[in-house]
Amino acid sequence: MSNYHIKHLEEYYQIYRKSVRNPENFWEEVAEEHFEWRKRWDKVLDWDFTKPEIKWFQGAKLNITENCIDRHLHIRGNKTAILFEPNDPKEEAQHITYRQLHEKVCRFANVLREKGIGKGDRVIIYLPMIPELAFAVLACARIGAIHSVVFAGFSSTALSTRINDCGAKMVLTSDGSFRGSKTIDLKGIVDEALKSCKSVEKVLVAKRINSDIHMEEGRDEWLQPLLDVAYSDCSAEVMDAEDPLFILYTSGSTGRPKGMLHTTGGYMVYTAYTFKNVFQYREEDIYWCTADIGWITGHSYIVYGPLANGATTVMFEGVPSYPDFGRFWEVVEKHKINQFYTAPTAIRALAKENLGFVNTYDLSSLKVLGTVGEPINEEAWHWYNDHVGEKKCPIVDTWWQTETGGILISPIPFSTPTKPTYATLPMPGVQPALMDENGEEIKGNPADGRLCIKFPWPSMARSIWGDHQRYKDTYFSAYGNKYFTGDGALRDEVGYYRITGRVDDVIIVSGHNLGTAPIEDAINEHPAVAESAIVGFPHDIKGNALYGYVILKETGETRVKDNLRKEINQVITEHIGPIAKLDKIQFVPGLPKTRSGKIMRRILRKIASKDTSNLGDTSTLLNPEVVEDIMQEAL
Ligand code: WTA
Repeated sequence: MSNYHIKHLEEYYQIYRKSVRNPENFWEEVAEEHFEWRKRWDKVLDWDFTKPEIKWFQGAKLNITENCIDRHLHIRGNKTAILFEPNDPKEEAQHITYRQLHEKVCRFANVLREKGIGKGDRVIIYLPMIPELAFAVLACARIGAIHSVVFAGFSSTALSTRINDCGAKMVLTSDGSFRGSKTIDLKGIVDEALKSCKSVEKVLVAKRINSDIHMEEGRDEWLQPLLDVAYSDCSAEVMDAEDPLFILYTSGSTGRPKGMLHTTGGYMVYTAYTFKNVFQYREEDIYWCTADIGWITGHSYIVYGPLANGATTVMFEGVPSYPDFGRFWEVVEKHKINQFYTAPTAIRALAKENLGFVNTYDLSSLKVLGTVGEPINEEAWHWYNDHVGEKKCPIVDTWWQTETGGILISPIPFSTPTKPTYATLPMPGVQPALMDENGEEIKGNPADGRLCIKFPWPSMARSIWGDHQRYKDTYFSAYGNKYFTGDGALRDEVGYYRITGRVDDVIIVSGHNLGTAPIEDAINEHPAVAESAIVGFPHDIKGNALYGYVILKETGETRVKDNLRKEINQVITEHIGPIAKLDKIQFVPGLPKTRSGKIMRRILRKIASKDTSNLGDTSTLLNPEVVEDIMQEAL
C-alpha cells in the first residue's frame, strides 16, 4: 500500500488512521518518496500553536521549481505542462511542454536576477491568465524571490495597498487584458497605483492586447526583448524548507488585507499530495481548474500541485459566458478534459442558461468534477452531477482556505461515497474539531459547531507578512491550541463534514472573500456618507450578495439618492474592485448598536434576508427604535 495514492475507501481509512497516529512518520514517508531534496531534513516537525510557530522539514534544502519542472525533463520533457486556452476561441491554444516551460522559466528568472531581484525580495505579479503569469510565479520561485500575485481585477488602490504592505521592489504586469468582449487597461491601473508606492524600482510589461501605453522612463521595460536575450538555463536558488515561497493577500473581517505567508517544503509536499489524491490524476490526463492564479486555488491547483506531479494543467484566459454560455463545455470537448475544477457560483450561473449549451458538447472525457470556494447548494450539485458529469463523475466538494494552502476536507473520488453539499472527510494528516459556544470540543456525531484544526499540516500559512501578532490573534486565540478557520460546520452520523459558511464578518460573494470593514471604509470616503454597515444576503448565482445600510450626513431626495447609490458603488470599485459592489443600498437614519457601540449585524443580516419573523434578543440595543425604521424601508 502506498501512502501517496489512495485507491479505495478501506485504504483511505487505514492511511488516515496511520497519519493521525503518527503524522511525522506519515509526512516523512510522503516527502521522502516523491520529491527531490538537495538536502534531507533534520526534523520533520516542530510546532507550538501558542506562539504560533510551525516548522516542517526543518533543515531540508530544495527548490520547488526543480520538483515542478527539472525532474520531469528526462521522463516527460515533451509532455504538455501548460495548455493555454485563450479568451478568444478563434485564437489557437498553446501547448507548452515541460522542456519549453523549463526554458521559459529560466530565461524569466535570469531577467529578474539581472534586474536586481534576489532571494527574499518581493515581486508583485499583476497579470492576466496568460502563460507569462505562470512563468513569472515559477521564475520568482526559481531564484528565491517571494511572489505576491494580485488578482488582475483589483483596483489601483487595492494594488498599491498590497505593494506597500510587502514592500515590493518590482511589479510584473501586461499592457492590458482580455475579458470576454472587453479589454482592461492593466498598465494604466499599475501606473495609478505606483503614484503612492515608493518601494518599486522596476516594472516589466508583457504584451498581450497591443495597446498604446505609457512607459515610464527608467522604470518600465517591455518583458519580451529582455527574455529574448536572456540565457536559457538558470541555476535554482537552494532554499530552506521554511524559506518563504509566496505571500497571498486575503480579506480579513477587519482592517487591511492579510498577507498570508507560505513557505516552501511543506507547501510543495501537501499541494502535490492532495492534487494527486483529490483529482486521482493519471499520467495521460488533462486537468483543468478554471480559477485565476490570483487566488490560492490557482497557486496550489493550477501551478504547484499539478506541476509537481508532472501533470498537464490548463490555463484559461477567458470567462464562462464568452462567446456564449457553452464556452466551458466547448473547451472540455476540445481538449478532452479529464478533471474539471470550478466554483459553485459558475455552476449556478451556467445552470440558469439553456441546457443546449451543455448538451451540444461531448463531455465523455470527464472523470472527476470538483468545486471550491463556497458551499455548493443541493440544486447546483445535482445540475453539475446530472448534466456535466452525466452521473458518472464523482464530485469532489473541496473545502480549504488561502490560509490552509491546500485542500483539507474532500472526498477521494472512486473511494469516498459523495453526499450532496458535504465536503465529507478530512485528508490524511488533517484533524478537524467542532467547537461549541463554550469553547469545548464537541465529541461524537452528529455535531454542529465552529470548525478548528487540532494539529499542523504541512501547507498551513506560517504567518501574516509583517504582522505575526495578527496571525496569532486571528487564528490561534479563539480556541486554545487550535487553528480556528472562521467557518461553521456540521458533522453527520458517519463523520462527514458539511461547511455551513463563515461565522465572522467575511462574506463570500461569487466565491471571493470580502471583508465588511474595508468596504465600509471605502463607502465612508464618500463625502455624503456619515456611516455604513455591510451584510450579506442570499443570492441565486453569487451565493451571497452585499447589502449596504448607509447613514447620510444630510438626507436628500430620492432622485439624488439614486445617483448616490451609483457613486457609492463607484467609490467601492475604485478602492477595492468591481467584485465588491453592493447589490442593494438602503439609506437609514441610524444603525442598531449595542451599548458598547458595536453594530448588531445579526439584525441587519436578518432584515437583508427578509427573515424578520424572529429578530432575537434586541434588549441590549442602545437604539431599538431604529430597527423598526429600517424594517419599514427595507429593499
Ligand atoms: C469557503 C478558497 C464551503 C469557506 C480555497 C472558507 C467553502 C473560505 C468551500 C476560504 C467548500 C471554500 N464548501 N465553503 N468546499 N471552499 N469555502 O481563502 O468559508 O478564498 O473559509 O480559499 O471559502 O476562501 P479562500
